Amino acid sequence: KTIAVICGGQSPEHEISVRSAKNILAAIRRDRFQVVLIGIDRAGRWRLQEEGSLGRFVGETGPELAIIPGKSTGQFLRLDTHQTLLPQPDAAFMIVHGPTGEDGVLQGLLRTIDLPFVGPDVLGSAVSMDKDVAKRLLRQAGIKVAQDIVIRKGYARQWTYEQVTNKLGSPVFVKPANMGSSVGVHKVSRAEQFNAAVADALLYDQKVLIEEMIKGREVECAVLGNETPEATEVGEIVTPEEYSFDAKYEDPDTAKLLIPTEVRPEELPRLQAIALSAFKALECEVMARVDMFLTPEGDIYVNEVNTLPGFTDISMYPQLWEAAGLSYSDLIERLLAFAQQ
Ligand code: DAL
Ligand code: MG
Repeated sequence: KTIAVICGGQSPEHEISVRSAKNILAAIRRDRFQVVLIGIDRAGRWRLQEEGSLGRFVGETGPELAIIPGKSTGQFLRLDTHQTLLPQPDAAFMIVHGPTGEDGVLQGLLRTIDLPFVGPDVLGSAVSMDKDVAKRLLRQAGIKVAQDIVIRKGYARQWTYEQVTNKLGSPVFVKPANMGSSVGVHKVSRAEQFNAAVADALLYDQKVLIEEMIKGREVECAVLGNETPEATEVGEIVTPEEYSFDAKYEDPDTAKLLIPTEVRPEELPRLQAIALSAFKALECEVMARVDMFLTPEGDIYVNEVNTLPGFTDISMYPQLWEAAGLSYSDLIERLLAFAQQ
């Protein structure tokens, strides 16, 4: 079988995507799968890549590709002097995090070329990516989520910090509705930080969430499957401060990952049940990592559902499956099989 691995993209998570892709490339069994590597450069162009040439970013070299819609003998046409079609992939492992990758946009494009892909379809990707819409669906499914206020760019209603904290307490988190890896996220505990935090978050999205802070342990659960998805044990992120982009990827020593982590015996099945309900409430398929808070009182809140979770060296999703006895290579095979169902 031929697998298209697609990485990069136009979101601030471009580099994370490349890191994820390198691990996926290393783990795909080459005796069973032929790989075509496609990079989306930061300008959004699709380029055929040599595996060995992948650096921190998708380079501005490599032949550009045209995409041919419909069921055809080939869907990717090299635009250099070759003008040849790439071998037709049987499935894609598209690991493009963040907006235009994880939010249904590229999933829709792959639907137009009839190429099965790993991760939820257009709807699940889109609703999971938008934290505001996702939380409305989670609330409707009876799942606890942090209280929030939504601010839209250009809308007249202005919130003062005092009004915000009257409703949500202090500190609060300010985050773009559509983004990943904590990009544009601010923890605000003083009035003078508030406007700048909102302005920064609005650089990434038209819509910003202000959320109450849930005091609890940050735990994550990996979900895999379609009609009868399975959930792993939970992992935990232990940080001295909040888990920022830098703590995640630049300075990994500041965050400690416990995989799996210990919870009270009665809490694990509840965490897994809530992860699976969230997966279904958000119309997910194939895979997602469900991030939750577990409070000292034993309440469980869903923070977010990541439909293309990281596959970097420090990423929780593949490590949770490894702890469950599924090797990285076996996980990829199962993901590709679910993608084609
Ligand atoms: N958005 C990053 C890649 C994650 O959720 O792991
Ligand atoms: Mg995320």
